[in-house]
Amino acid sequence: MNTIPDQVAPQHPHFSLDDDGSYAAWRATKLASRGMPEAVSIENPAELTASAREQLLRGCQARNFALFHLGGPIADVERDLRAFGRHLGLLDLDQNLCAEDSGITAITVKSTATDHTYIPYTNRPLGWHTDGYYNAGEHQVRAWLLYCAQPAAQGGDNELLDHEIAYIRIRDQNPEWIRALMAADAFTIPSNTEGGEQIRPDHGGPVFSLSPVDGSLHMRYSARQRNVIWKDDAATRDAAAFLLDMFKRGDDHILRYRLQAGEGVITNNILHRRDGFRDDPTSGAKRLIYRARYYQRLPLPKET
Ligand SMILES: [Fe+2]
Repeated sequence: MNTIPDQVAPQHPHFSLDDDGSYAAWRATKLASRGMPEAVSIENPAELTASAREQLLRGCQARNFALFHLGGPIADVERDLRAFGRHLGLLDLDQNLCAEDSGITAITVKSTATDHTYIPYTNRPLGWHTDGYYNAGEHQVRAWLLYCAQPAAQGGDNELLDHEIAYIRIRDQNPEWIRALMAADAFTIPSNTEGGEQIRPDHGGPVFSLSPVDGSLHMRYSARQRNVIWKDDAATRDAAAFLLDMFKRGDDHILRYRLQAGEGVITNNILHRRDGFRDDPTSGAKRLIYRARYYQRLPLPKET
């Protein structure tokens, strides 16, 4: 996981800081993908067609995410979303602290049986992050999907940014910042205790790393200052400040989208955030989003 820039895989030469030519070509292709992609229509997620699978994988190859829309209600959301992931080659569900048994998590306003208030289960806004940024070692969340069973009465929009665009913005500003963010100790995740018991020790890790499996770029990030302790050196501090500033300033590749009932996104763990929202108990408009997380990245589509 602790990959430095000169250990790039042959299929990803653009991640080498010494290969400006490959980087320029890759960068141009990446930046050419703009705007929200069209949703891929899916009749039955449990029996994904080869064509829908290809469309989803092509979307994820280009932008690290795809939008999908299900043709009708699904009989068993958790079972069918698990099958959907399996059809796409995603097998390992991340069992996080609050995941229900199936590994599919219902994200809705609810009280949790822990000491902490987990913001995802409130109606408050969620800042920019990648999922599982606090996970150590092998347990990196490389893909996730969200499926909207019901939107809120008001708000709850998501913003999405392909983490490879964030990489480009940083590298264009200062390639040394990429090197700093790939350091094994770029940031530290403070320990997490619950009921006086430590359930996660302090651990350090890189922000950007290259997958030992396929050389793809992985990002761990949280904009919340209390969630991560950045390494105290100039390059790391400046890179972290630049990212925060970019999110404040905005970027023309940040996409804002409000998932409607039946819609979802599947991603290679891109950067994202959520607006606060308001449920309306009288009309029954209570936001309900299902989430699955995977330790695997989406596979590449078949060559045609
Ligand atoms: Fe998230």
